Amino acid sequence: MTDLMSKIVSLAKRRGFIYPSSEIYGGFGSGYDFGPLGVEMKNNIKRAWWDEMTKNHENIVGLDAAILMSPRVWQASGHLTAGFADELVECKSCHKRFKADEIQHPRLNSLTSGVCPECGGQLTEPRKFNLMMRTFVGPVEDEAAITYLRAETCQGIFMNYENVLNSMRLKIPFGIAQIGKAFRNEITTKNFIFRIREFEQMEMEWFCHPKDAKKYFEFWKKERLNWFINLGIKKENLRLREVPKEERPHYAVETVDIEYKFPFGWGELEAINNRGDFDLSNHSKYSGKDLRYFDEKTKERYFPYIIETSGGIERSFLAFLCNAYQEIKGGRTKTTKPTKEIEILLKLDKRIAPIKVAVLPLVRNKPKIVKKAKEVYQLLKPHFVCQYDELGSIGRRYRRQDEIGTIYCLTIDFESLKEDDLTIRDRDTMAQERVKIKDLIKVLKEKMEN
Ligand code: GAP
Repeated sequence: MTDLMSKIVSLAKRRGFIYPSSEIYGGFGSGYDFGPLGVEMKNNIKRAWWDEMTKNHENIVGLDAAILMSPRVWQASGHLTAGFADELVECKSCHKRFKADEIQHPRLNSLTSGVCPECGGQLTEPRKFNLMMRTFVGPVEDEAAITYLRAETCQGIFMNYENVLNSMRLKIPFGIAQIGKAFRNEITTKNFIFRIREFEQMEMEWFCHPKDAKKYFEFWKKERLNWFINLGIKKENLRLREVPKEERPHYAVETVDIEYKFPFGWGELEAINNRGDFDLSNHSKYSGKDLRYFDEKTKERYFPYIIETSGGIERSFLAFLCNAYQEIKGGRTKTTKPTKEIEILLKLDKRIAPIKVAVLPLVRNKPKIVKKAKEVYQLLKPHFVCQYDELGSIGRRYRRQDEIGTIYCLTIDFESLKEDDLTIRDRDTMAQERVKIKDLIKVLKEKMEN
């Protein structure tokens, strides 16, 4: 792991963003749990995406489909066949398993030998390994009870395509957006929360006439890239990658990945796929239900093409963290004396930051100041995600809040008792201004929206 990644992983655990799953039992399959700050930030990412899709675009409606579906869904979708399998190689000496394409097995690249990157032992020939997670429904664990944890949320959207179309009286083009868990039995997990076995996807399936598919593919590619940029991800750390045919998922006619430059290298954040009519035509074939769209104006009956935007929440989360992480050598406040201190600033976008406001009494041994600070905290709590902190010097408390990206620190001091006001410190500029407590909610709301 790179030095920067280790620092981010350590900050995430220390400050309550992300913990290893089942840690007291030594962890579990590289699973991760989101702590109090992590869940706030994750919800903020989801909220930003949901609002973008369902409020800022015409003709997109939401859905929340079940994770467990008929196993026939996965036969029709192609996920139970070779289309959704990775090539696995195993070391004959240390028995570690690897994804073949990641360690360049000789069959894939004749220049390298089939040598284990861990112990130098000999590797087996690659064999196909399906990524679907199996489970049983009902009390008897036989073949008939097998089903799968969904590997992509969009299959729930395709299952409800006709329900949504009819109940919402929609006309093509339209979209269905969904956020939910997906599961993949990945051979190797990697790079903290970048590749895990249980993750969340935010997917939007756009149903359109085949002749318009190209146009909408271009449209959604740009929209999705801009979404990340608008939320503060640096442009230079984002790129679009045309995925060549041999790497494309089995259902895609065209794929472009939005990639982010993580500390460990460029990695896929989100996929934009033109799925053609693969899904609706296959589900029609397997289910016997005609899922073609009937255009009342033109009298045309056809399978709509699907343009998909498919992002992983954990990957966006990691990109937001990496993008925001800054170390300031010598501290943020320049003093005349040089200091060796390194201060961490998490410069998250206001919409993404988990804690919006921290309430800090200047000192904790003056009951009147503490009382007033607690009143301010109670006043703000229903409006903003807040923290109250009275431990340590004020400078130390500012640093603690900067480290988790808190946007505003409010300090209640001696003058506050006379003037019924407080200071608002801006995380990014460190500028401070005095504001009357009676105006506080209005002022903070305006600041948050700016
Ligand atoms: N429905 C299309 C689909 O699932 P994908 O490229 O396989 O496409 C979409 O996945 C997104 O889901 C990826 O861009 C990534 O953000 C996220 N994702 C996929 N596998 C993941 C994993 N093992 N761990 C974390 N995120 C993952």
